[in-house]
Amino acid sequence: MTALVNGLNSSGLFQAGFQLSLSEARNPLTLRPARPAMADQLAAGHYLSIISVILRGICRSLERAPVFGDCRFNVFARRFVQMVIIGISDLHGRLNALKAILAQAGECDVIVLAGDLTHFGSPKDADSIIEACRSFAPHIFAVAGNCDNEGIETRLVELGVGIAGRGIIVDGVGFHGLSGIPPWRPGMYQFSEETLASSLRRGFEEIADSLCHVLVTHVPPRQTNLDRVLWGCHVGSYAVREFISTCQPHLVVCGHVHEGRGIDVQGKTTIVNCGHAASGYYAKIVLPQAGRQEDIQTELCRADLV
Ligand SMILES: [Fe+2]
Repeated sequence: MTALVNGLNSSGLFQAGFQLSLSEARNPLTLRPARPAMADQLAAGHYLSIISVILRGICRSLERAPVFGDCRFNVFARRFVQMVIIGISDLHGRLNALKAILAQAGECDVIVLAGDLTHFGSPKDADSIIEACRSFAPHIFAVAGNCDNEGIETRLVELGVGIAGRGIIVDGVGFHGLSGIPPWRPGMYQFSEETLASSLRRGFEEIADSLCHVLVTHVPPRQTNLDRVLWGCHVGSYAVREFISTCQPHLVVCGHVHEGRGIDVQGKTTIVNCGHAASGYYAKIVLPQAGRQEDIQTELCRADLV
């Protein structure tokens, strides 16, 4: 036997019936609500909107989380809403300097090595450098500089980190690379501006569909604040400059000109010259995976060397 009684629920937002079973009829205090279908749908919508508000609050908290803190919550935030990149260039074979930089920077999502890993060294030297980076980031990308050579370039590819003239996408962020410099002096790992331009195009084509574009290049773009040597002239690459003005990548990480350490912006592109890593200089970059170029955060850092 059932009996239906109309009434208001606790929130007073809609009317609901009360269903009374045979056993419960003996004790009216055990009345339980029996909502009609429309009331159930309204209640479900109400709960969904509450869940939606909670999720939005969590997402906002993640976005506001301190970037370089050590708390677990921050590690969670980094994984899901942004990518932390450590940029290192011009180590010139100084493994101790690399270890000091990595110890200070801590774990990150990606380490990019923007050339001159060695000082006219061997592929074996490159092995030690990549090995030292392995435990600090799940992804390592590297290009060769003018003080490296073709053997080192080949070894970087064999190690799965070489990205010169090729592209790879990680969590929606596309990385491609450029090795070498424009012609300078004998004995350098160098290429014509045309060859550099074609390598840039080749790599970029492989990541064109990604949300965020990152170029890792040893040589900076020409005529910026990042390619001026001590005596004042610019030594960057015209091909890199042309590529930036045409394709407007989100981020360019470079090196080569030790005294040009700094950050510059060309159009929508943030360009970071990480500086002379052999002296402890490096860069921390936080990339928004949603691809908002104005939200890129960069920080020039220096590790103490013993
Ligand atoms: Fe260099």
